[in-house]
Amino acid sequence: MIYAKKIPDVYKLIEYDIVDSTMISLKELVKEGAKVGTIVSAKKQYNGRGRHGRKWISPEGNLYFSFLRQAENKKFKNVFAPVFITAVALAETISLISKKKILPILKWPNDVLINNSKVAGILIESFNNNGNDLLNIGVGVNIKSNPTNAIYSATNLYNENIEVSREVVLKSFFNCLYITEQIFLSKGIKEIFRLWLSYSYKVGTKIGVKIGEKRIEGYFNGLDSNGSLLLIEESGEELKIFAGDVFLL
Ligand code: BTN
Repeated sequence: MIYAKKIPDVYKLIEYDIVDSTMISLKELVKEGAKVGTIVSAKKQYNGRGRHGRKWISPEGNLYFSFLRQAENKKFKNVFAPVFITAVALAETISLISKKKILPILKWPNDVLINNSKVAGILIESFNNNGNDLLNIGVGVNIKSNPTNAIYSATNLYNENIEVSREVVLKSFFNCLYITEQIFLSKGIKEIFRLWLSYSYKVGTKIGVKIGEKRIEGYFNGLDSNGSLLLIEESGEELKIFAGDVFLL
């Protein structure tokens, strides 16, 4: 599948050399009528955005793209499904590209790590367009370089002995995403959580979570039915965590 000739037909790729942020370019295209499935990728971003208002330094050589997805219907409990679907597809992509030599790890909710260093990140922004709830899903993959001054440890695919082009990663990702979306449609969120957990820390791993200025420590205990992180404190009490930065202890 990594050598799939093209991106599945449900997606439409628009490529730029330089943009401010693909998150902005995609939203502008939506105003001009772009449909669900539109992908915007750029070789370089001047103002790449990360989660929690951080910057995503975006020099040439890495992969940067955003794509438009329909949001899940709020009446159902699957509003967070796209976070997990995208993360699973990204982990699967890296595993396939490395010919399964590398097992990427997913850190809740959607960071992709190799040997405990971040190699890819996902930023999801929701917005409404003419009464339609949409998601702008941005993905950055470090292919040739990574930030060296980030608050977390980072790596890139070349550094992990995976020599691959942006084009192949992009094509592989959308093929994996298409399959993961089909799995979600046919088997539901439980199967997506099962796949996500197969790429995550083992239950019982000691982790910490930073929530604003607060730090909580405990043992990873999987996900609840909405995708919240479950953490067991030293006292034995189980906490449900809705947002935060997870780190290994
Ligand atoms: C994170 O902080 O982990 C999320 C990083 C997301 C970066 C990608 S790069 C393509 C898209 N455009 C942006 O400005 N950000 C996302």
